[in-house]
Amino acid sequence: MVDRQDDNLWQGDTVWRNIQETGRLGRHRVHFYETTDSTNNIAMALGNAGEPAGTVVVAETQTSGRGRLGRMWQSPAGTGLYFSIILRPQLDPADLAKITLAAGVAVCKAVEKETSLSPLIKWPNDLMLGNKKFGGILTETGSIKEKGETVVIVGIGVNVATTMQMLPEELQDKATSLALETGILFRRGELLAAMVDQIEVTVMKLQGGRFSAILHEFEQRDAIKGLSLHWLTPAGQIVTGVSVGLGRDGVLHIRDNEGEVHQVLSGDISLVPK
Ligand code: BTN
Repeated sequence: MVDRQDDNLWQGDTVWRNIQETGRLGRHRVHFYETTDSTNNIAMALGNAGEPAGTVVVAETQTSGRGRLGRMWQSPAGTGLYFSIILRPQLDPADLAKITLAAGVAVCKAVEKETSLSPLIKWPNDLMLGNKKFGGILTETGSIKEKGETVVIVGIGVNVATTMQMLPEELQDKATSLALETGILFRRGELLAAMVDQIEVTVMKLQGGRFSAILHEFEQRDAIKGLSLHWLTPAGQIVTGVSVGLGRDGVLHIRDNEGEVHQVLSGDISLVPK
């Protein structure tokens, strides 16, 4: 942790420098790019070429960082963490969606460990501080094969040192960063190490059949349970209701105004303004 006043800012970030110089983070091989289109693209190409599970791709900046539902992920240099991890999970293809939930829990736990903050998750992949988003997860799957053979890329973007001026005007009341919330410039290397550690632990839990434990940790950080929201279905309909939380399979349940409970597998969720 360093103070914003510190002239050296990122200079003391020895873990980050070590990653750049050695291409390693503990047991993990790291491919570091000053700039790339999207770390998810690089990770998918590496994964398809046989790179082992646990390999991490990190970029200082991305030219085409992307989020869920085709959205763009702003990735300015020097202010954020943009990285992707290659996984080869021993899971049934039907369970792959649980990886995003597990990664969300892992990133929250890492942020809790490294800062005084208590982040929440807006199902399925938005990382929130209060009602503002500071990070997100984009999970992409290669061609689905047998259990354990599918390459899964978990891409994570976190606003670490982003200032209000750096945010586009339309995002200023919707987005935030760790620095904006605390006034502290956290070291990206330490944050990255903590996140990779937590992801490893959580994915092991998932593979060990302990999704219920992850679900419990998700529920403790659920940003939308009990709140009114609009669900834009993949078919383009809007359902308005209240989130009643996640089912045992990690699917979001919304009770609409007529009392019908909908199972939300995909689509977009937005909160109804109070
Ligand atoms: C979202 O909020 O919809 C997900 C954002 C995910 C952004 C990260 S940054 C690293 C990785 N590379 C990408 O192009 N996207 C993910």
